[in-house]
Amino acid sequence: MPMDPDLAVEITGLKKAFGDFVAVDGLDLRIAKGEIFGLLGPNGAGKTTTIRMICGLMAPTSGEILVWGHRMPKERDALIRITGYMAQRFSLYEDLTVKENLEFFGRLYGIPRSELKGRVSELLNFLSLEEFSGRLAGRLSGGMKQRLALGVALVHRPKLLILDEPTAGVDPPIRRMFWDYLRGLNKESVTILVTTHYMDEAENCDRIALVNKGKIVAEGTPRGLKREVFGGDLVEVTVEGDRDPSQALPPCKVLEERCCFTECGMPAKALRLLVQDAPREVPKVVRALEGGGFRVVSVSPAYVTLEDVFINVVEGRSRVA
Ligand SMILES: Nc1ncnc2c1ncn2[C@@H]1O[C@H](COP(=O)(O)OP(=O)(O)OP(=O)(O)O)[C@@H](O)[C@H]1O
Ligand SMILES: [Mg+2]
Repeated sequence: MPMDPDLAVEITGLKKAFGDFVAVDGLDLRIAKGEIFGLLGPNGAGKTTTIRMICGLMAPTSGEILVWGHRMPKERDALIRITGYMAQRFSLYEDLTVKENLEFFGRLYGIPRSELKGRVSELLNFLSLEEFSGRLAGRLSGGMKQRLALGVALVHRPKLLILDEPTAGVDPPIRRMFWDYLRGLNKESVTILVTTHYMDEAENCDRIALVNKGKIVAEGTPRGLKREVFGGDLVEVTVEGDRDPSQALPPCKVLEERCCFTECGMPAKALRLLVQDAPREVPKVVRALEGGGFRVVSVSPAYVTLEDVFINVVEGRSRVA
């Protein structure tokens, strides 16, 4: 199978069985160079198993994996300098300091001593770890440990960064900071493959694949997936009065209609609509309602989360509809 030069990762029919149990069940995946790609799924979906096979740390039962043109796990050695891997579990030396960990892994990658010093201080600065550089890794807080682990994964300036749940158990402000780092690296043309089960975080990815029970159940951009799953954009409209406004609407799907009150305490109706393309159709909806004698109190896009998408795809039901 020739590798497309624009692809960082190309996976075909990937399977991994542990005895009778199939953890990864026929995965096909293409990740372009320069992308931030998210693998999203619940506990046990097969994310770590997939990542470990991509890194060449585990042999697949069947299927093919090409990473930067190298076949895994056979050509794993060629990949070591290209990829940076941050495992789900903290795997650094707890009895070495922050700085010593960075230096140790730097030497392991064969970075010359003359270069390593500058590289380490650059990373300490980038990850705001300077004031903790002399602290033992085992004494760091969870968020600092994750930052150090990211630093170690970056010490040899990889082109492909593979992160397995980098922000698990970390406070939201640190998670945001982490994503700022990742976007910064991506701007400098680092391709990123990241797993998470924080659906809100996945909004940061260029593309995502939803994984469940070892299979990809949906794939696309965050907005594209939302539109695909719901068949369009969701819009919320409130009109004054207690008449039924649905007759006045242009063709669209009314998902929900309920009675409510305006801020001044007047009776009102709230509608949840499914339209093909919100920016184009919302003005038409407003005009039609006003033409039908309704006073439109508010119109807003309904915020659909990736969690809504996931529940819809995996469980075949929708929380928004
Ligand atoms: N070495 C192993 N032997 C047997 N079963 C395994 C092994 N490694 C993983 N599994 C099983 O494979 C399934 C997928 O595990 P995996 O760790 O890939 O999931 P995950 O998506 O990373 O989950 P999490 O979000 O909890 O990290 C799980 O049911 C797990 O118990
Ligand atoms: Mg995992």
